[in-house]
Amino acid sequence: MSYIDAVQSRRTFAIISHPDAGKTTLTEKLLLFGGAIREAGTVKGKKNTKHAVSDWMEIEKQRGISVTSSVLEFKYNSYHINILDTPGHEDFSEDTYRTLTAADSATMLIDTAKGVEAQTKKLFKVCKMRGIPIFTFMNKLDRQGRDPFELMEELEELLGIRSYPMGWPIGMGQSFSGVYDRINQKLELYNPDNPKDIDIIQLSGPDDPKLDEAINDEGLVSQFREELELLDVAGDPYDLNLIKSGELTPIFFGSAISSFGVQTFLEHFLSLSPSPSPRKSSTGEIDPLTNEDFSGFIFKIQANMNPAHRDRVAFLRITSGTFERGMAVNHVRLGKQMKLTQPTQFLAQSRNIIDKAYPGDIIGLFDPGTLRIGDTLVQNNTFEFAEMPHFSPEYFSTITVKEALKHKSFEKGIHQLTEEGAIQLFKTYNRFAEQQIVGVVGVLQFEVLEYRLKHEYKVDIQLERLPFTLARWVTGDEDALTVFKKTQRNLVTDRDQRIVALFENDFQMRTAADKYPDITFHENSYTQ
Ligand code: G4P
Repeated sequence: MSYIDAVQSRRTFAIISHPDAGKTTLTEKLLLFGGAIREAGTVKGKKNTKHAVSDWMEIEKQRGISVTSSVLEFKYNSYHINILDTPGHEDFSEDTYRTLTAADSATMLIDTAKGVEAQTKKLFKVCKMRGIPIFTFMNKLDRQGRDPFELMEELEELLGIRSYPMGWPIGMGQSFSGVYDRINQKLELYNPDNPKDIDIIQLSGPDDPKLDEAINDEGLVSQFREELELLDVAGDPYDLNLIKSGELTPIFFGSAISSFGVQTFLEHFLSLSPSPSPRKSSTGEIDPLTNEDFSGFIFKIQANMNPAHRDRVAFLRITSGTFERGMAVNHVRLGKQMKLTQPTQFLAQSRNIIDKAYPGDIIGLFDPGTLRIGDTLVQNNTFEFAEMPHFSPEYFSTITVKEALKHKSFEKGIHQLTEEGAIQLFKTYNRFAEQQIVGVVGVLQFEVLEYRLKHEYKVDIQLERLPFTLARWVTGDEDALTVFKKTQRNLVTDRDQRIVALFENDFQMRTAADKYPDITFHENSYTQ
């Protein structure tokens, strides 16, 4: 396969959803189609720890949830697909956000009974910021859910995105009969007694009498026809450019648990979603199709993938060129050469040592402690990819070491965990007694922090919760900043000495924004 074919056949995406929407189920079905696994229940699940795909930290096992996210890779037809899995529990972390920076597109999975939920909204914002295409899968049609029109309205109201239903359901819950593919005019019939047995009928359009024969429920069929007409007249037109820029989301309907609508989704998704896209760098855009020199960036660092060895794995997303085992690359931040000797790739079942990988692929590098999030590794060059943003934590605590004598290990530990991106560390600004403040996106990270400092660094810490829920990176001209810094009591600095304001709630933040119109409050550290 030529380099260009390898790039064009790749699809790297993340599934964004709220816990329980069915992400594990959908992922599993996708892997089944690709032949990457043979039976359901292989992908890590809350109640199925026996077949866990990745090794878990002890705390994950105790809680039965996934703290870290993994990458699953499979092939379907001529496509090579990488799914960036994101923690599914409510206590997700900044890793989840960062994982999205490595994706070229996202699939937003929604439970039709619940609509857009909190975690989906947060993850959506990151995708929106990046302008990547977003595909929507409305799940659990086999159960009574909300009216599809209402769900479309909700997407627009809560997320500000317009939608184009690629298919339209006929009935729902007890009356669920199938989904009509508006693009290919195919009817996929749902058989509640045997959901795996999916009949597909080619129609000439929604008025085709074959539809009446197949569904045999006059009321349902006429309601479907009316709804479809309404969509054609009042709905948004199909616009590929708007889909590609993430302004229009194609919607698919189905039932992941019955594999219903999953294959149709996968096939449309593969033909519409982008192959690995260009990335901004210090020397302009790096397009994988025109740059054959290897380059990539670290978006995630995970410690203790295997608790038996204290190893750290840095996840690198390849942006351009061909990766070859043993190759030498520039570690641009350190200005050093390094050899990539033991890279792993993450298949559905196990970690494999790999010899070759292409743009869009994610490789795991064993890290002796020289890599940090956002680092660029590049062959024959010295450019750096745009900075990896920090996202606003939602929980804050002061952190102190219980035994003063352990201060050194404590500093080393929190430094390391900050580099891994498990926590964000701030320092109080302009106070007599400087204090360290830890910010996390999910509250579970505090427990992870305590656990890891105790087990890996033999340090006991004391955390004291602060009432803040928002961090905003502030910028403005010098005069405005000087006044702001003098009057605000809630300021901290991040590890790069940037000024960050902490707020207890949205109202407090908006009040400050009104009072200081010359100051800009950024939701993440990427303030350019
Ligand atoms: P998550 O990873 O997004 O958290 O969700 P997961 O796949 O674990 O699914 C959450 C629950 O929803 C599971 O039920 C799963 O079986 C169910 N589910 C997923 N897709 C569908 C669907 O299309 N229709 C229906 N009716 N249910 C679906 P559970 O009772 O929590 O677990 P389990 O005992 O079934 O494993």
